[in-house]
Amino acid sequence: MSEKRIIVAIDGPAGAGKSTLAKRIAERLGFVHINTGAIYRAVALWALRLNVSLEDMYRLEQLAKEARIQLTGGRVLLNGEDVTDEIREPRVSQAASRVSMVPGVRQALLSVQRGMAEESSVVMEGRDIGSVVFPEAQVKIFLDAEPAERARRRALELQEQRDFTAIAGEMQARDERDRRRAEAPLVQAPDAELIDTTGLSLEQVEEAVLRVVRARTSNGRAAGH
Ligand code: DC
Repeated sequence: MSEKRIIVAIDGPAGAGKSTLAKRIAERLGFVHINTGAIYRAVALWALRLNVSLEDMYRLEQLAKEARIQLTGGRVLLNGEDVTDEIREPRVSQAASRVSMVPGVRQALLSVQRGMAEESSVVMEGRDIGSVVFPEAQVKIFLDAEPAERARRRALELQEQRDFTAIAGEMQARDERDRRRAEAPLVQAPDAELIDTTGLSLEQVEEAVLRVVRARTSNGRAAGH
């Protein structure tokens, strides 16, 4: 790793507030924001479109290897097509969680994720960034919130009239799958700072994260530079 590059890893379950926060922190620090969930979602969308069974580990791995995924200017491109909005659909959320259980898919996407951080300092959010993708990240945050709060935020974000209990149920199923899978499950890395965002404003969470960044780097620069 280049000594000057800084990795801020933000992991946590759905609805903990990772994306909004990661975007803000990246803006504040002048780093690139990488939402790795979008990468899994793009592969899942492709599988759904091609009617590939989510049990077919071999085909899913092939898709993950062949997919051309670009994250640029807040948009998500799959094989050149803008799929930013479509990958947010609930059916894609569930499929992404299932696709991400496949070891071959994770392996293929590991190099994609590492490649995205080659050129610049990044704020990278996901489930296994501090534990697997960048265990050497200088800053690791584990963001969490109470389940009811996470479901409420997700419902607001989706702006759906759907039953709140249905949204909460789906989220819980996805979280359990993400935490229980054998390969790179959602866990708090031992050296990650836990921040519980329940009842905190975005500004308060942002300040808490920036405090950790300052403590672990020289004010957003790699130590020794
Ligand atoms: O962050 P998200 O909700 O958009 O992620 C969608 C799914 O992708 C999530 O349920 C699990 C998977 N994922 C993963 O396994 N590892 C990551 N680093 C990011 C997401």
